[in-house]
Amino acid sequence: MSTILVTGGAGFIGCNFVRVAMRRDDVRVVVLDKMTYAGHRESLLGLDEQRLEIVVGDIADRDLVRDVYQQHRPDWVVNFAAESHVDRSIDGPRDFIEANIVGAFEMLEGARRYCEAGAPSGFRFLHVSTDEVYGSLGETGLFTETTPYQPNSPYAASKASADHLVRAYRETYDLPVLLTNCSNNYGPYQFPEKLIPLMILNAAGGRALPIYGDGGNVRDWLYVEDHCEGILLALERGELGRKYNIGGGNERTNVQIVDRICATLDEALPASSNEGLRSAGVSSYEGLKRFVKDRPGHDRRYAIDATRIREELGWQPRFDFDSGIRATVQWYLDNGAWCDAVQGDEDAQRRLGLSSTVADSGA
Ligand SMILES: NC(=O)c1ccc[n+]([C@@H]2O[C@H](COP(=O)([O-])OP(=O)(O)OC[C@H]3O[C@@H](n4cnc5c(N)ncnc54)[C@H](O)[C@@H]3O)[C@@H](O)[C@H]2O)c1
Repeated sequence: MSTILVTGGAGFIGCNFVRVAMRRDDVRVVVLDKMTYAGHRESLLGLDEQRLEIVVGDIADRDLVRDVYQQHRPDWVVNFAAESHVDRSIDGPRDFIEANIVGAFEMLEGARRYCEAGAPSGFRFLHVSTDEVYGSLGETGLFTETTPYQPNSPYAASKASADHLVRAYRETYDLPVLLTNCSNNYGPYQFPEKLIPLMILNAAGGRALPIYGDGGNVRDWLYVEDHCEGILLALERGELGRKYNIGGGNERTNVQIVDRICATLDEALPASSNEGLRSAGVSSYEGLKRFVKDRPGHDRRYAIDATRIREELGWQPRFDFDSGIRATVQWYLDNGAWCDAVQGDEDAQRRLGLSSTVADSGA
């Protein structure tokens, strides 16, 4: 049995990763999660409780991190824990510095001490990062692993800082680290302040579909399970100290995303029979679209070149955009209880109230 310590394992990508990893019978998972507005026990329901332990706590808490390493003796660590919403980082950057930089630092320090004290052979630490560290692209070009960092939001800058620390711990202490930088994820269990779930739930409920600026910002979308498979591959076969970009090659403008959601929703829940739409005085989901004032520093285009992970590790996404969106729309329609539970939190409601005008398309 091998043990994976998954920080942020009650969040969107973390809980999907736990589910993917636990499909293997010989894997035991320890989740370390602060359970912020974005972390929910409900996202981990239905898993084999014999092989899953949940520790509630902060990755920036040095003593706790030391105890978790010592007590659970992980073979692998995957550090997902972070503040992840770009708009929140513009409203208040401090939490991002604490979680994304100080937290990553304490996880690395904990790993360093753990290795010094005799970690299991084959111990690996993988830090999960984002394509937002690279800044914004023009009409053409792709981010490769050697693209210089040029973060534009406090969120992106905090993630970039952590990436530099990860690199430094390899160069300075020879820590067995790996780094992955992924494009925008979508899929089940994503908190409904982000673009895709917010649009699905608003449209289904007959509420406005707010789109930043002209809706022309481009993101490269990847179904969350494909990201999780890429992380597992990097953990198993990646070269230590190496960095892997992960992306779906699915570039879409925000307005294309909203249109695709409207069309997919119309198949699953026809607009003609949706009472909410009738009350809103529109006859189609597209009729709910509203263009709103753009976010400051809004990066225009991100797109990933995933050649390295494809060629060196044999990674391939299994979902194309249409199948991924269909699965996601259906999941949100089928999981109203999860949506109600995670939106019950007061802090979450505050942000959703503010952002009933906008949705984050950032990663
Ligand atoms: N969502 C994307 O499209 C995307 C794309 C690329 C990379 N990433 C990265 O992947 C990671 C996970 O993203 P996500 O979308 O699942 O985020 P999320 O906001 O859904 O989840 C983050 C989780 O981390 C936990 N957390 C926050 N601060 C913590 C702390 N100090 N200590 C312990 N736990 C803490 C939260 O409770 C939550 O469960 C992040 O590092 C993010 O930067 C996300």
